[in-house]
Amino acid sequence: MQLDRGAVGICCAKVGEAEVFAAAGIDNIRLPYPVNPANASRVLALMDRASVSIIVDHPAVARGWSDAMTRAGRTLDVLIKIDVGFHRCGIDPDAAGALDFIRAIDALPGLKLRGLLSHAGHGYSAASEAELSTIAAREAEILTTLGERARASGIALDERSVGATPTLRFSVRQRGLTELRPGNYVYFDRTQVALGAASLDDCAMTVLATVVSKPAADRIVLDCGSKTLTSDQARGIAKAPGYGAVLNGAGDAIDESLFIERLSEEHAVVRVSGRTALEPGDRVRVLPNHSCVVSNLVDAVRLVNGDEVIETLAVAARGKIA
Ligand SMILES: Cc1ncc(COP(=O)(O)O)c(C=O)c1O
Repeated sequence: MQLDRGAVGICCAKVGEAEVFAAAGIDNIRLPYPVNPANASRVLALMDRASVSIIVDHPAVARGWSDAMTRAGRTLDVLIKIDVGFHRCGIDPDAAGALDFIRAIDALPGLKLRGLLSHAGHGYSAASEAELSTIAAREAEILTTLGERARASGIALDERSVGATPTLRFSVRQRGLTELRPGNYVYFDRTQVALGAASLDDCAMTVLATVVSKPAADRIVLDCGSKTLTSDQARGIAKAPGYGAVLNGAGDAIDESLFIERLSEEHAVVRVSGRTALEPGDRVRVLPNHSCVVSNLVDAVRLVNGDEVIETLAVAARGKIA
C-alpha cells in the first residue's frame, strides 16, 4: 500500500526483515541500521534480489563492508548516519572529524556513498509542539549544512534522508531534504496521540482483549499482558499514564474510568473508577502505547470494519531480530 501511494521503497531495521520483504518482491530496501559486516553474505544475497542500502557511522565497520564488497566484486550503497540529537547512533556533525569521515567513506572501494541520514528519535521526548518543530528544523539544517560542506570539498551527495513520525509534520516543510522515513504512522498509537502526531481516529491498531477476571468491584483483569502490549510507557506532550487506553462502548471512545495500572506477562490489571458493567467474557479494545512492538509480537492482524473481519494478514517479518 505504501508503494502504491508513491513510496520509492521501504525501510527495515534488520536483515531478516529485509529478507522477508525481498522474498515478497519488494525491490528497493533501505536498512537505516548499523548492520554489521558479519552479515555480508546475507546482504550480498539480498543485493541479487533488490536494490539495498545501509548506513555507516564507524570507520572499522565501513572498512569491513568495503572489504566484503571488494572481495565479492560488488558495490553497496551506503549513507552516513548523522547524530542530530538523539545520541544513539551516528557521527557528531559538529566534530572536527565529520568531513574527514565523509571523505574516508567516499574513498572506500566497494561502497557508493549516497548521502546523509538521520533519525530524530529525541522528538519522542519533546515537551511541546514548538520543540518538535525546532527539532525538525534543526535536523534539516544539520543535514543540508553538512551536505553543502561535503559538496564544497568535492563530494556531491544525492540524499538527505530524515524520518520519525513525531517530527514528520514539521519535516515535510523543510527545504533540502530528499526523503522522509516515518514508520509508526502506518498504525499510529497512543504515544503519537499524546505527541499531537495523530488523532484517536487515526489510530488503526487495537488489541482485542477479553475480561478474564473481576476480583473486586474496582478491579478487572484483561488477557493482554506484557507479552501482548509490551511494557512500553507512552511518551508525549500530553500525559498518558498506564499501559494503554481501554476503548469501550459506543464509537470505541476511551473509557476514562478504566486505567491499566499494571501488567504481568498475561494479565493487564485494570483499576476501575466508580463501577463498570464489564464482566468476565466481555471484550474491549486496547489502544497500545507503542504499536510497532505490538506488531512484532503477533502472528497475524485482522483488518476489521466495526466487528466484521475483512481480512487476516500474516505479520510475515515479525520476530526477525537478526
Ligand atoms: C533509523 C530509523 N529511521 C526511521 C524510523 C521510523 O521512526 P518512527 O517509528 O518514529 O516513524 C525509526 C524507528 O525506530 C528508526 O530507528
